[in-house]
Amino acid sequence: MFRNDLLHNKRILITGGGTGLGKASAQRFLELGAEVYICGRRQEVLTATVQELSQRVASSGETKKIHSHACDVRDAAAVEAMIASIWADGPLDVLMNNAAGNFLARTEELSLGAFQSVIGIVLMGTLHTTLACGRRWLAANHAAVVLNITTTYTTTGSAYVVPSAVAKAGVQALTRSLAVEWGDRGIRMNAIAPGPIPTEGAFSRLLPRAEFEHAAQKRIPLGRFGTPEEFANLAAFLISDGSGYVNGDVVTMDGGEWLQGAGEFTALGRELTEKEWQMMKPKKKPPETKTDLKAKDSARG
Ligand code: HXC
Ligand code: NAP
Repeated sequence: MFRNDLLHNKRILITGGGTGLGKASAQRFLELGAEVYICGRRQEVLTATVQELSQRVASSGETKKIHSHACDVRDAAAVEAMIASIWADGPLDVLMNNAAGNFLARTEELSLGAFQSVIGIVLMGTLHTTLACGRRWLAANHAAVVLNITTTYTTTGSAYVVPSAVAKAGVQALTRSLAVEWGDRGIRMNAIAPGPIPTEGAFSRLLPRAEFEHAAQKRIPLGRFGTPEEFANLAAFLISDGSGYVNGDVVTMDGGEWLQGAGEFTALGRELTEKEWQMMKPKKKPPETKTDLKAKDSARG
């Protein structure tokens, strides 16, 4: 889909890059010539991903590297230390805020700690990394791109994932605000709002029974979930120079799911029987008889 050197010389940090969509993006960015840093809380997961992706990339003849940092993005000091250590080798060009926490729960039963955990990862984590990189980019006049990963419920909200909904809505506001505030100093800022894409992290927490997957797919006009590869291709486009005029946008990739849910008559239309569709059509007028035509003629004079 892209030239193999699309991301040549780009140095990219992906938070939560050890698993799921972050890992798929790391692989794609490496294939396209980037140097990639991934972070997460679990060093063993990061190490396994670095090993796996280095081998794949080496076998395709690429030489660029992938590095990992164990870091909890909720901890501003830890983020600052990680960014300083990366910058010691040279500035980053791209930050992808992908780390997230989420679970299904009835809001009234949640502890304060549950809210703090998810808001801390999603909203504060994004703020910590964005400020640590942004201050450096602005001071050095270094052009850069930030790509934030949100969800389709940032605008609508969603029952049962309220900490995530409020945090992701905050990330969307941050994206649009800084796209304007920092845009004239060479920093582009966009977001991807994905619909459901099967990953262990998301599906184990949000779709507790396998049969829900069928119901979830029925909510999607394209009739299937998205794939990590489709997500990674969109991410590659948005961080590349080829999308240089896209700034402050939230790109939805959900197979049309949220629009199907929002349309007033969509559900009704899906339920109507063939007989009911026929009844909704205008009644056919019977063909005019000779007597009708004569009557019309005499009326005209
Ligand atoms: C209610 C819960 C809970 C649950 C944890 N808590 N899980 N409350 N229901 N299922 C509460 C705990 O009781 C605790 O509160 C607080 O949250 C922190 O829990 P810990 O287990 O100590 O936190 P921690 O180890 O930091 O784990 C963070 C986490 C966990 C968010 C809770 O799920 C996680 O590590 N997630 C990372 C990966 C992830 O979530 N991926 C999915 C992304 S999918 P107290 O009061 O005791 O301190 C996504 C969008 C999908 O974001 C959209 C699909 C369409
Ligand atoms: P995932 O595999 O669970 O990814 C989450 C990643 O975040 C993990 O690698 C996790 O690693 C890391 N992480 C969590 N807390 C962290 C912290 N405090 N500090 C640093 N890293 C942390 O889930 P995914 O499906 O790939 O999700 C990726 C992104 O897509 C998320 O932003 C999610 O909200 C978004 N999204 C996913 C879907 C979907 O259907 N998959 C839909 C909409 C949006 P550690 O546990 O090792 O820290």
